Amino acid sequence: MITSYQKRCQSRVDAALDELFQAPRDELERLYQAMRYSVMNGGKRVRPLLVYAACEALQGDIERADGAACAVELIHAYSLVHDDLPAMDDDDLRRGQPTTHKAFDEATAILAGDGLQSLAFEVLADRRRNPQDPEVRLQMLSALGGAVGPAGMVGGQAIDLGSVGQKLDREALETMHRHKTGALIEASVLLGALASGKADDLSLKALLQYARAIGLAFQVQDDILDVESDTATLGKTQGKDEAHDKPTYPALLGLDAAKDYALELRDQALHVLRAFGNSAEPLRELARYIVERRS
Ligand code: IPE
Ligand code: IPE
Ligand code: MG
Ligand code: MG
Ligand code: MG
Repeated sequence: MITSYQKRCQSRVDAALDELFQAPRDELERLYQAMRYSVMNGGKRVRPLLVYAACEALQGDIERADGAACAVELIHAYSLVHDDLPAMDDDDLRRGQPTTHKAFDEATAILAGDGLQSLAFEVLADRRRNPQDPEVRLQMLSALGGAVGPAGMVGGQAIDLGSVGQKLDREALETMHRHKTGALIEASVLLGALASGKADDLSLKALLQYARAIGLAFQVQDDILDVESDTATLGKTQGKDEAHDKPTYPALLGLDAAKDYALELRDQALHVLRAFGNSAEPLRELARYIVERRS
């Protein structure tokens, strides 16, 4: 199901990420090890793939998108390390390995998450891996900061924690999912488009509509997989949402209606790309992958 294009982009971002975890002093070795452990462990790299695919859709040079591709994966990795902490979802398994706080300790996991987050912004500001124009880099930094902060991902995580054991209506559930997961996915597409240096208002509008649809679809599918996949395939413990009484799409709508909704969102995403030619094929592949994936 992973295409050769996706494999190439995964290797590309993995190589760029791999350079980031050299401890500058011996006493920081453990912190850097925990950061490396949390990132270089076989994630699907969906957000970097979206960065590259959006850049390619606008016929940009993907060398200018490496910084954004690393930045969104670093933010994602930090969000997972913190999401798994005992004070949050309390998970022991991530990407088929012990979670960072299990492999190290809680304080190191908190600091590793903090470190990954700051590193993301540093990498995104670096002129070597991003557009040369400082105005564009500033726009990218501001977009990422807004998407993952309290008005975006962190806000979504706060809504998630505050919703345990509650019955959210459909609108509230959608708001939670759009914040905790959709916001970073939307930012990934936007950053890729900005990195191309060729984003006009019309194409940006279409790409953002695409991103909004797949951003929500991604978390709907994550909720579905938590119900019907298994721990070995997922690389994380199956059934945790129900065990923790989390509001999810399958819990609210039933499994079949949740699956129909994921497909509907995929079709919305494909529909808004109709004006794009072949260059948007990687984005189309990703829209399909997001709802067909089994892990
Ligand atoms: C899992 O994200 C967490 C959510 C935001 C739903 P992914 O399914 O992209 O996890 P990895 O990066 O492949 O491990
Ligand atoms: C995670 O959502 C969202 C973020 C980390 C921002 P989940 O809690 O559903 O992710 P998993 O299922 O643990 O990967
Ligand atoms: Mg969570
Ligand atoms: Mg979780
Ligand atoms: Mg989940």
